[in-house]
Amino acid sequence: MTNSETDLLNRMLAELRPNSNIFAVARRGCGKTTIGKQFQELMHRKVIVDRNREYLSADGLYLENAIYAEGLQDFKDKLVICQDQDRYSLIFHFSPYENEDFVFDDICKWTYHAGDLTFVVEEVHHYCKPQFIPKWLKEIAASGRHKNIGYIFTSVSPSLINKLLFSLCDFYILGHLLNKNDRDYFRDQMGDDTIKLAYLKPREFYLYSTTLNESILIHSI
Ligand SMILES: Nc1ncnc2c1ncn2[C@@H]1O[C@H](COP(=O)(O)OP(=O)(O)OP(=O)(O)O)[C@@H](O)[C@H]1O
Ligand SMILES: [Mg+2]
Repeated sequence: MTNSETDLLNRMLAELRPNSNIFAVARRGCGKTTIGKQFQELMHRKVIVDRNREYLSADGLYLENAIYAEGLQDFKDKLVICQDQDRYSLIFHFSPYENEDFVFDDICKWTYHAGDLTFVVEEVHHYCKPQFIPKWLKEIAASGRHKNIGYIFTSVSPSLINKLLFSLCDFYILGHLLNKNDRDYFRDQMGDDTIKLAYLKPREFYLYSTTLNESILIHSI
């Protein structure tokens, strides 16, 4: 990285807050979850909806520094305990017997009311559609800032999710996007530079700050 790139990256990271809204998008397997986790390390209070059980050790065991909730009731109980802590990662796993759509909206509701946290949802397209967004996910996206809630959402394509989720972002983490329609969602911000997204390698991303209106190439570690 040149000095001016390092300077730009530092200016961007200085804009990052626990209540920043971040959307990471790239085709499958490019490293969205991995780079999202790097950003999460900068956030102290987190609720993570871990649909695919990716927030475990390599052996599939619970991570020592995290709290796990299995199912809605367990989540509610543990969120109350977390409220008194300066740092926590509360990782939610769906119980196999629960209705995912209903439970997800309830998780969003309890998360919204808790406030002061970063809400992480992997593969957010499982919970919304272009024409549909669950009530409390919308509340988090549109009014979360008032409750000091930010989010980190990942998805494989912007075309699958509700526009509200990425129109309210402070940062985009944009990886390899083969499809021109997908790249065009970011044309307003990146202009003709969106073509660069077609040629990114796995683990390469453009970090784009909507506040600074600048982007920089970064790699997940
Ligand atoms: N910087 C990196 N160095 C080494 N391995 C990496 C790096 N980034 C990602 N990987 C590995 O590549 C694989 C895919 O990464 P990851 O799960 O983060 O991608 P993803 O885009 O979230 O995938 P999916 O679309 O399936 O959710 C994982 O096995 C991960 O460990
Ligand atoms: Mg992933």
